[in-house]
Amino acid sequence: MNKKITKICCIGAGYVGGPTMAVIAQKCPHIKVTVVDLNEARIAAWNDPNTENIPVYEPGLSEVVAEARGRNLFFSTEVDKAIDEAEMIFISVNTPTKTYGTGKGMAADLKYIELCARQIARVAKDDKIVVEKSTLPVRTAEAVKNILQNTGNGVNYQILSNPEFLAEGTAVEDLHAPDRVLIGGDTTPEGQEALNALVEVYANWVPRERILTTNLWSSELSKLTANAFLAQRVSSINALSELCERTGADVTEVARSIGTDSRIGPKFLKASVGFGGSCFQKDILNLVYIARSYGLKEVADYWEQVIIMNDHQKSRFANNIVKTLYNTVSGKKIAFLGWAFKKDTNDTRESAAIYVADALLNEEAGIAVYDPKVPESQVFFDLDYLGTRSADKNKQLVTNYTDPYEACKDAHAIAILTEWDEFKTYDWQRIFDNMKKPAFLFDGRSIVDSAALTDIGFKVYTIGK
Ligand code: UDX
Ligand code: UDX
Ligand code: ADP
Repeated sequence: MNKKITKICCIGAGYVGGPTMAVIAQKCPHIKVTVVDLNEARIAAWNDPNTENIPVYEPGLSEVVAEARGRNLFFSTEVDKAIDEAEMIFISVNTPTKTYGTGKGMAADLKYIELCARQIARVAKDDKIVVEKSTLPVRTAEAVKNILQNTGNGVNYQILSNPEFLAEGTAVEDLHAPDRVLIGGDTTPEGQEALNALVEVYANWVPRERILTTNLWSSELSKLTANAFLAQRVSSINALSELCERTGADVTEVARSIGTDSRIGPKFLKASVGFGGSCFQKDILNLVYIARSYGLKEVADYWEQVIIMNDHQKSRFANNIVKTLYNTVSGKKIAFLGWAFKKDTNDTRESAAIYVADALLNEEAGIAVYDPKVPESQVFFDLDYLGTRSADKNKQLVTNYTDPYEACKDAHAIAILTEWDEFKTYDWQRIFDNMKKPAFLFDGRSIVDSAALTDIGFKVYTIGK
């Protein structure tokens, strides 16, 4: 008989753990879901009486939290207690790229995962199913299993891999109606029993034919592969965008033409200033690192090119701004519309805006940032984290605005870095009137009506045109 899950714990209340657990709790009122995190401020924000103040901005998420929180969804810093109570524990902590030692800049840093495994081993007094939710290098499950079995209290563990495929900005939608849910587990009877227990959780709202089951390694590798393929499409269209600019072809026309081929498909063909986000770069670097560690040079080089192209796209955008502004931006005000790595999220990890800003700051530009969801502290955190210049220097050159019209006032140029819908609705005549002339606009997301803006008097540059 399959074990029925009644208590779930999730370690890590971030962009993945928070929304995923909120939806599980919403759809499974009979399961008590406790999300724990070491970060007290983050947990306090998840518990804010006003659900508009939860730490992750996602359309529809505050409503889901309002529905389930206090009923069967709880946020807490009591990690041990939640582990002890739960039958199933999700590990959803961050796995950033290593910043030190072997594999620096490439491999995933697994120290947070290992800490979780050791904590579970120390606390657990009865059998547990441990689910890897974070993106992990292939065969991490084995390491987690080793730690659990060798340091634990003699209880039994089953390890499952259940990679998350939600995209930020559409997390709630993606969780409510996923293309598929993927669950990997051991092929032993005990492994299959654990796997079925998780299938039963998702089956509360996901049609069974969309719940795919496989072995652990295939599941882990599928996550890296999915992100590598998606990022590859963006780099492919971005590579063509540069060729379009030279030849007079229009990249949106090219994308439309190829997207109607059902073998190619229309999605993920938007040329941009470069992809960002916590997953694409990290997962590809991880894939490259794994391939290299098996001596597969051609495989590693092939995937690394996706990153090289993305870096090129970001620096090419920045260089074009400098070149267009008569080869000098020193002391000029350049307004950045958007700082997040895509619209409808407050997440800025690996955002193209950070790298474009960094390149312009090297040229001593003054940057005026407006983003509807990203606070000033995050902008400075991102720039300081690069370590290119002192925090004081960043403070001196960068100003944040809460009003887009103020951000653009007296600017020599505007750069659109994120495709927020509101940018389309601005009074562009008013913005133009208050800018230095010639008024340059660099649209890194192809979202504004370039013909209308050109009529107003803007000098518009759009990627791939
Ligand atoms: C291709 C294009 O599909 C077609 O639109 C264009 O007009 C001409 O070039 P073709 O070369 O006839 O058509 O066949 P296609 O089915 O595309 O296969 C090309 C090669 O790729 C074959 O050797 C095929 O075996 C191989 N292939 C295709 C794979 O190895 N794996 C696949 O998943 C698909
Ligand atoms: C991605 C995967 O889509 C998701 O399945 C996985 O779980 C996590 O990583 P996410 O990073 O949240 O999700 O957003 P995504 O929509 O994939 O966008 C990633 C980046 O690519 C963004 O910077 C986006 O602007 C850029 N992008 C996307 C383009 O530049 N062009 C496109 O056509 C699509
Ligand atoms: P993701 O996008 O993968 O969800 P985030 O950085 O948004 O990544 O969230 C990961 C969360 O995991 C952070 O809030 C961090 O504080 C938390 N975390 C990391 N290690 C531990 C741990 N050992 N115990 C509890 N929480 C942890």
